Amino acid sequence: MKLLTTGAFVRASRSARLSLRYRASSNNTYYLGIRLASRVARAKLPEEFSIESSRPDQRHDSQATEGQITLEEQDDSKSAFKRALEAQQTLNKVITQSGFSGVKFRNAAFVFDETSNLSPSILDLVGRNLYDIPNHPICITRKLIESVFAQPEFINHVAPKPAVSTRLNFDVLGFPEDHPGRSRTDTYYIDSSSVLRTHTSAHQHAAFKHMKNIEQTGYTICADVYRRDSIDRSHFPVFHQMEGAKLWQLQPHPTEKLTRYQMLKNRRSQMSQDIEKLPKHGLEIIDEAGTFDPKTNPIQAEHDHPEVRMMATHLKRSLELLVNRIFSAAKEAGVGNPNAQDEPLKIRWIEAYFPFTSPSWELEVWWQGEWLELLGCGIVQQPILNEAGLSDRVAWAWGIGVERLAMLLFGIPDIRLFWSTDKRFLDQFHEGKVTKFEPFSKYPACYKDIAFWINAAPAGATPLTAKPDSGLAAAAGGDATKALPSETVPSAFHENDMMEILRDIGGSLIEDVKLLEEFVHPKSGRKSLCYRINYRSLERTLTNEEVNQLHNEVASRMSSELGIELR
Ligand code: PHE
Repeated sequence: MKLLTTGAFVRASRSARLSLRYRASSNNTYYLGIRLASRVARAKLPEEFSIESSRPDQRHDSQATEGQITLEEQDDSKSAFKRALEAQQTLNKVITQSGFSGVKFRNAAFVFDETSNLSPSILDLVGRNLYDIPNHPICITRKLIESVFAQPEFINHVAPKPAVSTRLNFDVLGFPEDHPGRSRTDTYYIDSSSVLRTHTSAHQHAAFKHMKNIEQTGYTICADVYRRDSIDRSHFPVFHQMEGAKLWQLQPHPTEKLTRYQMLKNRRSQMSQDIEKLPKHGLEIIDEAGTFDPKTNPIQAEHDHPEVRMMATHLKRSLELLVNRIFSAAKEAGVGNPNAQDEPLKIRWIEAYFPFTSPSWELEVWWQGEWLELLGCGIVQQPILNEAGLSDRVAWAWGIGVERLAMLLFGIPDIRLFWSTDKRFLDQFHEGKVTKFEPFSKYPACYKDIAFWINAAPAGATPLTAKPDSGLAAAAGGDATKALPSETVPSAFHENDMMEILRDIGGSLIEDVKLLEEFVHPKSGRKSLCYRINYRSLERTLTNEEVNQLHNEVASRMSSELGIELR
């Protein structure tokens, strides 16, 4: 058994990708990473339940037998390879044997197929579980969020198994077949029916099912999530999200028989009491979205308008309280506000779109000269609750990027730092404390440009430079400018494929990558692109030779793997 080299793997997966159509997911359950959370009864486990209590003392470690996989019996050699994969010890590494490649995660082993596009550099980051390291800023931030959405009202989960089915990541959440989030240029596919989850909403279905058996009326889930994305100071292919939800139930009376109308009235009054209970805050918030818009951000047909208004108020106020908490903690730590000096904090609500909520909103904060998306949220699509057996409940849900909050909270200027193992970074943070990050040094940057011709895009391919549109792009990742999963003929060039090669070669030595210039040759009609790659280490000064070597490798792999012609 030998490990496949990086380049060979990327090449193999690239060429495989060119020939195959993305296959829509089926209902098969490739893994049953069953593990239960909390103190509550572990009676009947919901299908594919893979969340756990966020309290380590309440977790039960996984047994090898949990990852049962259905083998395709007609294919003996593949089955044999899969068994070998399951039996071996190495986790999160590409293993190649007898013409097959695959990977074993903590809960299950997967044999790659034509859809797989995992790279060794992303696999290296699986399983670090930063949210579970008490002195790490990601864990400190998670705990702070959990303290706002706390027991006994909320149950706090973590989900340590990043491999999920496309059914849970997309289908049950109502993602249309052609949603850009499903694209292989944006999502890491393990095989045709499994992905590295692109958002914590992949666990929404399980968490909702779990609500049936417990007393809490809400939950949070924290997990690492994965997206093929651009390279800059606020994007990294793995980051952390937290998801929260709060539910209100139609309560039957213990002795009397209530009409639906009476139960609805009681539920409304419960909502209004819950709003009353929320503390007030002094933040000034711009609300550009309102509660709903019949055309662009509708209330669901089966929902009661007064209830939706109350849930929207409760949801927005709860999240504003969280943001207030974060900024107060940051201020106390001397981090200051993220805007220019002495400017008041600028925060705004805007309309959004997610397949699994309606109406939906996003909260943004003004950060270093631009609006930074902090979170998305909305009123949960009723069919999702019904599907989880909760047709007697309505709910709101939100999803937050933990790094974004942590960057504001600790004044951490670059998302790559969270993955640093440098003691000068790690030793600065202590459980339960918010302290201002002191840069240990800023090492010099060195940029290099790369210019190349791309092939003509096939008809129907979306333009490279189109702006990601109105929120469509936001849910579970997915940039509307990228290839659709159903694409059979590859577009001329996908930026994220280049980013993946850059990450494989440069790792965290690349600070950002920007499109500098593009033009179409007037005679040949060919398009040329020029990107600027900024090399900078967070930990030391890079030598010229080192950067040249990296850059040469970038050029040679891009020309051999991406079908481009260097200029
Ligand atoms: N999952 C969404 C994302 O990743 C965020 C979200 C969660 C939005 C829950 C609404 C409700 O962008």
